[in-house]
Amino acid sequence: MKEVTVIIGDGISEEISLAAMKVIKYLVPDIVFDVKRAGIDVYEKTGSLMEEGLLESVEKNKVALKGPIGTPISKGFRSINVELRKRFDLYANIRPIKTFGDFSRYENVDLVVFRENTEDLYAGIEKEISKDEMHSIKVITRRKSERIARKAFEYAVAHNRKKVTIVTKANIMKLTDGLFLDVAREMSEKYPGVETEEILIDNMCMQLVIDPSRYDIILTQNLYGDILSDLCAGLVGGLGLAPSTNLGDKHAIFEAVHGTAPDIAGKNIANPAALIMSATMMLEHMGYRDESERLNIAIRQVLQKKEQRTRDLGGLASTTEFTDYITNYL
Ligand code: NAI
Repeated sequence: MKEVTVIIGDGISEEISLAAMKVIKYLVPDIVFDVKRAGIDVYEKTGSLMEEGLLESVEKNKVALKGPIGTPISKGFRSINVELRKRFDLYANIRPIKTFGDFSRYENVDLVVFRENTEDLYAGIEKEISKDEMHSIKVITRRKSERIARKAFEYAVAHNRKKVTIVTKANIMKLTDGLFLDVAREMSEKYPGVETEEILIDNMCMQLVIDPSRYDIILTQNLYGDILSDLCAGLVGGLGLAPSTNLGDKHAIFEAVHGTAPDIAGKNIANPAALIMSATMMLEHMGYRDESERLNIAIRQVLQKKEQRTRDLGGLASTTEFTDYITNYL
């Protein structure tokens, strides 16, 4: 028996988390869930943004599946997502992007974005110099650049990937991006079987729109990775099909890239595919490789038929119907 923490947040979080739990339980009955809630609803009831015992549960289980959580403006800490990443030092944000049938704009896209998750402009070091001048400090360190670069190259080897593309703006930010690039270059030398290329972020955006199938692993910093991964999601069908892993050395939290979709919450029309795809990554991480692969195939097969898709993908299925299509296929 293996226990997984499931974090249910706001908006569509409950609907899609229930869908993902149903599918996981169907595939691997041995997995049990410790469900904890977080977000604005919990805050309004308890004055705290997380249910008691949530952090302890993730600490103990090491693996969590997280539904989206809303971020209250100017209350408590900046965001529960940022808090979780910091608390468990989830430094690698891994986002696979793959062509998905006829709602992808491009064929043969199969790339993975490795985004550093803990520093860069996201460190949140901002300063008011005067009412009319604000500064934000970009922090890049050798240690944190090294560990994300290592993860990207290790992943390339483990998944038989051929190329790592290092994305920076090192021509302009010679010190910060220069350090990241130097460290990534040094790391690449330890993996001679993996081709390495370097590209500037602006050119990368253009190249991705022209032909994303050229790319394999993209290694980059926090802000560039944030923007590039949403851009890449748009190339293959949008946020409804974008899963992610937040990985540290000891803990991992799996979540969809999208947010709480308050406009459609409670209507049983949210697309649970991205969270279920995140569950495939979780199963693989937990050692259930076959089950993960079977689930991947099931998602792809179900999405082939237009009427089986949810509305955001032009279909008719409700959240629960889509989930049933998956379990029926399995
Ligand atoms: P959003 O991703 O929630 O919604 C953007 C649009 O996509 C909306 O039209 C929504 O209906 C649609 N959409 C998103 N997910 C969908 C799904 N599974 N099925 C069908 N349609 C879907 O982004 P937004 O509106 O910027 O953020 C809303 C809230 O979510 C905010 O409070 C934000 O802080 C939070 N958020 C949380 C994240 C997390 O927990 N990781 C990530 C991003 C946003």
